[in-house]
Amino acid sequence: MQLKTFAVTALSAAIMVGCATTQQPAEPTATKVVAKKAAPKAKPKVISGASGAMLASTCEGCHGTDGISQGPATPSIAGMSEDYLIEAMEEFSDGDTKSTVMGRVAKGYTDEEIVAMSKYYAGIEYGSAEQSADAATLAKGESLHNKYCEKCHHDGGADATDDSGILAGQWNPYLHYTLQDFINGDRAVGRKMKKKLDQLLANEGHAGLDAVVSYYGSQK
Ligand code: HEC
Ligand code: HEC
Repeated sequence: MQLKTFAVTALSAAIMVGCATTQQPAEPTATKVVAKKAAPKAKPKVISGASGAMLASTCEGCHGTDGISQGPATPSIAGMSEDYLIEAMEEFSDGDTKSTVMGRVAKGYTDEEIVAMSKYYAGIEYGSAEQSADAATLAKGESLHNKYCEKCHHDGGADATDDSGILAGQWNPYLHYTLQDFINGDRAVGRKMKKKLDQLLANEGHAGLDAVVSYYGSQK
């Protein structure tokens, strides 16, 4: 008898769960415009009615189609780790990272939408900016990278699984701006990186910083 009661209870619980998930998500207002542009490569999951690719089409104007930036003040965001992207968006939204535009942009999305977009960008391939520098600067940059930065920015800053972002092939001006933000304390960063950055500046001056930037900017 007891067994039967249990079975009935379990069945009604299952029905209740079924009912709870049939609620229709609200349709986003920009669906028509966005749907035409979105050509998702990595079949994104639909969350709260809009897929990561659909949401990401609002980022394209600045971060380029497929997250490869064409403008020197804006970073490429394709291919970075999902965790890194989520954290970056949260820090913009909370004001922990000073920004020109991203604070306002990030505030416009729910946590779910940020996860969906981060998944989308993490799933597409990174592309580098075309930049080079003279051989002496690159050699100096590489040796400074090995000494001060390599421990966390592996593979010449190209390791996409790093939770420290991708530095390889980012625009030099963007790298300069964001390093200056770290130095000024306008962008939150771990104590260890701050220490290495301060050491690099103290020992090598701005020429050292320039060499490291040129090195990362020229990497693929
Ligand atoms: C108006 C231009 C603009 C738009 C639109 C825009 N971004 Fe940005 N994004 C920037 C700039 C510029 C930066 C550098 C930080 C700053 O100054 O705001 C940045 C930085 C970022 C970063 C940090 C990257 C890193 O390497 O740390 C992420 C992540 C990001 N944006 C994601 C997005 C997403 C997702 C969207 C769409 C919802 C978006 N952005 C829309 C201009 C834009
Ligand atoms: C102890 C680990 C560590 C060391 C050493 C380190 N970094 Fe970082 N770096 C990080 C982490 C973690 C982040 C991501 C910070 C965040 O959450 O915004 C980062 C972010 C960055 C960024 C921003 C990337 C982006 O896409 O916006 C730059 C540029 C950077 N580091 C340059 C350097 C340079 C140059 C050095 C050497 C002088 C260095 N880092 C040493 C851990 C480190």
